[in-house]
Amino acid sequence: MALKNKNILIGITGGIAAYKIHTLIRLLVKEGATVKVILSPSAENFVSPNTLSVLSKNSVYTDFFSSQHAWNNHVELALWADLMLIAPCTANTLGKIAHGLCDNFLMATYLSAKCPVMIAPAMDLDMYAHPTTRQNLDTIEDFGNIIIPAEEGELASGLFGAGRMSEPETIFEQIKKHFEVANSLSLEGKKILITAGPTYEAIDPVRFIGNHSSGKMGYAIAEEAAKRGASVQLISGPTALHIQHNNILLTRVTSAQEMYDEVFKHFDTVDIAIAAAAVADYTPKIKASEKIKKNEDTMTIELIKNPDILRTMGERKKEQLLIGFALETENEEANAEAKLVKKNLDMIVLNSLKTEGAGFQKDTNQVTFIYPNKKESFTLKNKNKVAQDILNAVEILVENGF
Ligand code: PMT
Repeated sequence: MALKNKNILIGITGGIAAYKIHTLIRLLVKEGATVKVILSPSAENFVSPNTLSVLSKNSVYTDFFSSQHAWNNHVELALWADLMLIAPCTANTLGKIAHGLCDNFLMATYLSAKCPVMIAPAMDLDMYAHPTTRQNLDTIEDFGNIIIPAEEGELASGLFGAGRMSEPETIFEQIKKHFEVANSLSLEGKKILITAGPTYEAIDPVRFIGNHSSGKMGYAIAEEAAKRGASVQLISGPTALHIQHNNILLTRVTSAQEMYDEVFKHFDTVDIAIAAAAVADYTPKIKASEKIKKNEDTMTIELIKNPDILRTMGERKKEQLLIGFALETENEEANAEAKLVKKNLDMIVLNSLKTEGAGFQKDTNQVTFIYPNKKESFTLKNKNKVAQDILNAVEILVENGF
């Protein structure tokens, strides 16, 4: 049973389709899931907390404080969930999700959730078709939410068209499929080394040469690999990011040389390596031990080449799948193809700083996978989704013996 012992948190907002959630809860509970329910303030106009509590066999949350003045901890509740579903999701809540508004317990819990979140919108025909709604749906999908699109049919207004919440049976099947995929742990038993973030090359104790990498791309790959059951060794330059999954071992480094040393402590034992870090190609020849004073009008820093970590992995690899990144600003494909060959890679992920929404710091990226004999381009999407595409490609390469 894919749902056995899974914790599912359902947020219900104020729409007529709320009555259908009773059926969904029964299906989930019957399949072995533990279900907890949050009602938005207006949802209580459509469904009763008592009925939902009996069906889910749990208390129903409506506010930050229960009637006994006990605090309902939205963070704990969000962390409890293996999956959060907001259904029906009204146009109002959709707008709040898209813009991070937090004026009720449901929104506070949603904003604290680290698990996958599914959203099943439900509203009238013209509301669903409105450009604001379409844009909000695109935005929240870019955040990594899974949208269960509304279906066509007769609407509460009497109009006919798209806007009906997906049927409970359809939502149930989608949840089941989600856990079947999640439980399949397609990379179980694989060890994956991932580099992420920038490197900082010290000039003196105060200054460094660095770059704009936030680490988002590399960390997203690490999380996705861990979710698929891989043991992940993440070697990261300085970032503000934190890891979520227990299967990830994080080592933080500062300079390219430190990243090199750390990578080669692990490289021989891994099955797969993915280099998403933006490693500085050069480092100051002399790192001043004291802060350099501004006595001169000009100053020259002599730089020497850093080791190329990925190229060295390419030279040393034995039966290991090796994937690199290419960050380009011109002649993108030709440069990436040259790196694929020079660094002895099985695949290179090309991203260009010329593409709006791609590259450093953004939550989105637009990539092309270049293999020795083919290439595949993807649309601009959230980095979590890009990570899924990369890991899907990894699985196919592994299955085919690269
Ligand atoms: O961290 P984010 O803000 O999310 O941004 C993501 C990203 C833009 C940093 C990422 O998508 C990316 O493109 N990473 C590689 C950046 C880079 O340094 O590209 P490059 O073309 O200069 O290097 C080619 C490959 O060689 C890369 O895999 C790089 O990790 C590796 N390399 C480069 C130099 C070096 N000395 N050692 C290396 O291992």
